[in-house]
Amino acid sequence: MRQAGRYMPEYRALRAKYTLLELCKNPELATQVTLQPVNAHHVDAAILFADILLPLEPMGAPFEFAKGEGPVIHEPVRDRAAVERLRVIEPEDGLGYVLDAIKMIRKELDGKTPLIGFAGAPFTLASYLIEGGKSSNYALTKRMMYNEPETWNLLMSKFSEVVRRYLHAQIKAGANAVQLFDSWVGSLSVTDYEQFILPHVSHILKDVEKAGVPVIHFGVHSASLLALQKRAGGTVLGVDWTTPLDHAIDILGKDVAVQGNLDPLLLGAPRELLTARVDDILRRAKGASGHIFNLGHGILPDTDPDAVKFVVDLVHERTKQA
Ligand code: CP3
Repeated sequence: MRQAGRYMPEYRALRAKYTLLELCKNPELATQVTLQPVNAHHVDAAILFADILLPLEPMGAPFEFAKGEGPVIHEPVRDRAAVERLRVIEPEDGLGYVLDAIKMIRKELDGKTPLIGFAGAPFTLASYLIEGGKSSNYALTKRMMYNEPETWNLLMSKFSEVVRRYLHAQIKAGANAVQLFDSWVGSLSVTDYEQFILPHVSHILKDVEKAGVPVIHFGVHSASLLALQKRAGGTVLGVDWTTPLDHAIDILGKDVAVQGNLDPLLLGAPRELLTARVDDILRRAKGASGHIFNLGHGILPDTDPDAVKFVVDLVHERTKQA
């Protein structure tokens, strides 16, 4: 969950010299950034340094990360003709640099730490492509979904096929687990999720599950969608901090594991409160068939790296005792 990034001085030093896209596209640099949190905090798994938006460029929708604004898509896709022009790429054509980075990272990790690859889910990718960047209400995205269902389904089908191929390619290149980020899906009702999203997410996850590595299915503010997200697929369900893990486990049952779910802002809280919240999460996760301790969402840029190290050490200590 932004394991690497602006909260780390080592990362900021590299970002002073290179843009985010330059870091992603250069396998040596991507390897270096991926290893930063592993070396600094001794986390149990490395997260590939890349971005969920990278497939947009080879599909035909170039973008940049503008300073202070986040992602900006140069020509947002808003009608049928634009959706038709999007290419359903093979990951080797246009995303080969990510696959090269995975191979290089695995070599550097030398079997000591597993590597998690990832991709964005169709709704979350579509929200950036259609809105042109970040959005507070996904108005244009939902407008297409409700008013042009055929165009919507064509877009979702293109994304779900690209992402299915991309996750398989990451696993083939050496990823030991993969995570599908459906970060903004929590803005949808249960009915809309079932009708407009689930078949496409299922196309990805039901197939990628067959590759035999753990597949993490992640959303934010998606408590009401958990049962449907489980139906869509994944061997691990990500849970944000607004849903207690024991409640999530009651909904999900014991045949999937859970991931989560510390509020990223608790990393800035006094150590006593932070410790209490970590312990609370570990206690609530006890009934799960498996638990990946994680933040409920992305780490904030002004987070103190010492707080991250504190939590990693605390979880290691507590789970060793258990
Ligand atoms: O270590 C890691 O976590 C791996 C790298 C990673 C990045 N992006 C690099 C990055 C991962 C896993 C992502 C996923 C991602 N990217 C998501 C899903 C996760 C989530 O937050 O819900 C999304 C929605 C994106 C799209 C994206 N990338 C946005 C909206 C932004 C700008 C937001 C901001 O913080 O300014 C990015 C930029 C980005 N991607 C950064 C990093 C480390 C910010 C740092 C920088 O500018 O150097």
